[in-house]
Amino acid sequence: MAGGKLQAPRGTFDVLPEDGRRRSALRNACAELFGAAGYGPVETPIFESTDLFARGVGETTDIVQKEMFTFEDQGGASLTLRPEGTAGVCRAYLEHGMHKLPQPVKLWYWGPFFRHERPQAGRYRQFTQVGIEAIGSDEPTLDAEAILLLAELLANAGAQGVRLRLSSLGTPATRRDYSDELRKYLHGREAELSQEVRSRIDANPLRAFDSDHPGTQAVMRDAPKLLDRLAPEDAEHFAAVRALLDDADQEYDIDPALVRGLDYYTRTVFEFTSDALGAQSGVGGGGRYDGLVEQLGGPPTPGVGWAAGIERILMVSEVEAGAENPDVYVAQEGQADSRMAFRLVRDLRSRGVSAQMEQAGRSLKGQLKHADRIGARSVLIVGDGVLHVRDMRTGDQRDAASADEAMGIVEELTA
Ligand code: HAM
Repeated sequence: MAGGKLQAPRGTFDVLPEDGRRRSALRNACAELFGAAGYGPVETPIFESTDLFARGVGETTDIVQKEMFTFEDQGGASLTLRPEGTAGVCRAYLEHGMHKLPQPVKLWYWGPFFRHERPQAGRYRQFTQVGIEAIGSDEPTLDAEAILLLAELLANAGAQGVRLRLSSLGTPATRRDYSDELRKYLHGREAELSQEVRSRIDANPLRAFDSDHPGTQAVMRDAPKLLDRLAPEDAEHFAAVRALLDDADQEYDIDPALVRGLDYYTRTVFEFTSDALGAQSGVGGGGRYDGLVEQLGGPPTPGVGWAAGIERILMVSEVEAGAENPDVYVAQEGQADSRMAFRLVRDLRSRGVSAQMEQAGRSLKGQLKHADRIGARSVLIVGDGVLHVRDMRTGDQRDAASADEAMGIVEELTA
């Protein structure tokens, strides 16, 4: 086969060190923020049985209908690269009997997800999500806590132009009655709707709110709203969540047309957007999924959570990663023994000094230039039987009679 130019697959990207450092900084901030709120780290497989997503995310969603990377393994089992994390976490909750632990069980995750979408800025086929899930309680404080944790994460990252949209979808029963009402309404004005919306009136009428077709949008402005149809206990739950957000001075817009692209939501739904993102304005979103665990074969178990796109957060924020300037660069002069330099570097590192050494055969002049370029605080020059330490700030150079003395000078300059 002729060798074409090898490239990362469409919709994927490589993370190079500069970007990698920003991602690590963000991940560390997540671990700290979520850990302090009682969320433990969880990891689930990157592929799961296809059935999990069909049952969990919903047969009629875009994700399941057109965006999944699905394949058969050698034994003929249908597997899918996970398009989202909630279904897998709920599967793990059930599989490991976590409903027997004290509730709620609070978990957080970070990892790659896959959706076969048309790539554009901020939209990839492999992307990274961070997410949290609190399973086993329907307390409104969990909804508010989840929302505020994402708000805090975005604020800490310095995300620009962030807005919170909030709504409630009620219970499945309310949604069913409301869907019937909406279907009737949509059929009554079918001629004004886009072809796509028309074809989905019966399967998923709520998705009509998502349409960017002007005729459909006009119809949806006058459509009955689910928020006006909530059962009293759901309206009360929503009011409690809002009161907690108000107490925390968290701003939000109630958006009765907020529809999320996954079918498992009940009650609270929310989305953080950023105008800095353009068309792909969703930075993170989530909500309650009180029926999901049961739908996957478990006992009735409420849950709430969200996920946010790491690439999108970094696009709209100022996360900075400290440069990794070494404390010392160990240079070699003339025919000096590289085993000595190698030993010194390891000894320095074991003393907590960050050390690099010459590993590309440069001249001493080239090594000093390189040490300067990577921002080394000092240079330890290993000569033939002699050691010198150069202070890179002042250019002063001192001789050392022994390796210990040289390392002592380096530590002095590092402090
Ligand atoms: P989602 O809204 O589908 O929710 O995705 C969450 C976030 O993932 C989005 O806001 C976006 O930042 C990012 N994202 C999604 N698709 C892409 C893509 N193709 N390229 C780049 N970033 C993307 C969920 O996945 C739910 N599991 C959230 C949840 C957790 N609900 C309850 N618990």
